[in-house]
Amino acid sequence: MNIHTYEKIWLVAAMVLIVGFIATITYGAVGPGIAMVDDDGGSIDPDEINDHERFGDTGVEHVGGNEYEVAVVAQAWSYFPEEIDVPANSEVTFYVTSRDVTHSFSVVGTNINTMVIPGEVSQMTVEFDEPGEYGILCNEYCGAGHHDMEGKLNVVPEDEFDMTELDVEAPDEVEAGNETTINATVSDGMQTDLETTAALEIGDQQYEEPVAIEGAGSESVEFAVDTAELGDGDHDWTMTVDDEEESGTLSAVNGSDDGTDDSAGGDGGDGDA
Ligand code: CUA
Repeated sequence: MNIHTYEKIWLVAAMVLIVGFIATITYGAVGPGIAMVDDDGGSIDPDEINDHERFGDTGVEHVGGNEYEVAVVAQAWSYFPEEIDVPANSEVTFYVTSRDVTHSFSVVGTNINTMVIPGEVSQMTVEFDEPGEYGILCNEYCGAGHHDMEGKLNVVPEDEFDMTELDVEAPDEVEAGNETTINATVSDGMQTDLETTAALEIGDQQYEEPVAIEGAGSESVEFAVDTAELGDGDHDWTMTVDDEEESGTLSAVNGSDDGTDDSAGGDGGDGDA
């Protein structure tokens, strides 16, 4: 049987197109790492999220090197945490789950876009090379507040990224003329060691203490404050460690002379223990 040359050309062209289409679809499904939401990230009981090892405490965690993990809980109609800070030049793995209905976690302008299904953990790893600000949106209709469900992702320059946390314990009152202590507990959120300085400013007095913390640990430093030097009355204080700041007021009260015995009596006794 004789096949006309044109017909042969059309047959071959049709074959090439069919193979091409199949190859394109296969590459699209497998090549760039696109996958359906599955149980890769594990499953979770939505009622136990608060006690969960990862989701009980949402937010950013440093794993080591330039690797970070972010735990996010979606619920009608917000994300926890609402704002996420990660450094540039980092590899970030997001773990997202839902407390109630199906949501999505979509970072506008990136290829991060996943369904978030109650009972399942969606997991995706992304590299952030450059600093930038991204909006986070919910793409799955989840009820009346769906259009308000949003978050923010900040990729901050590496030298501005800070995972140091500060917690200050200070008395509100001390008997005038007495010494007291203000305690700063500094936590290092990074796996790497941290050397920094805790600075306390109270009234016209300034104190500084070096703080050296091993990776992922915390240290407390104690500042002895003498109200004999500060004088009577209220003294505003500010504790600063890196970008963290906490402030309050310490009142030096003259318990025995002023008639305010309820406030002075409670503190004068236990405060300086
Ligand atoms: Cu959550 Cu729409």
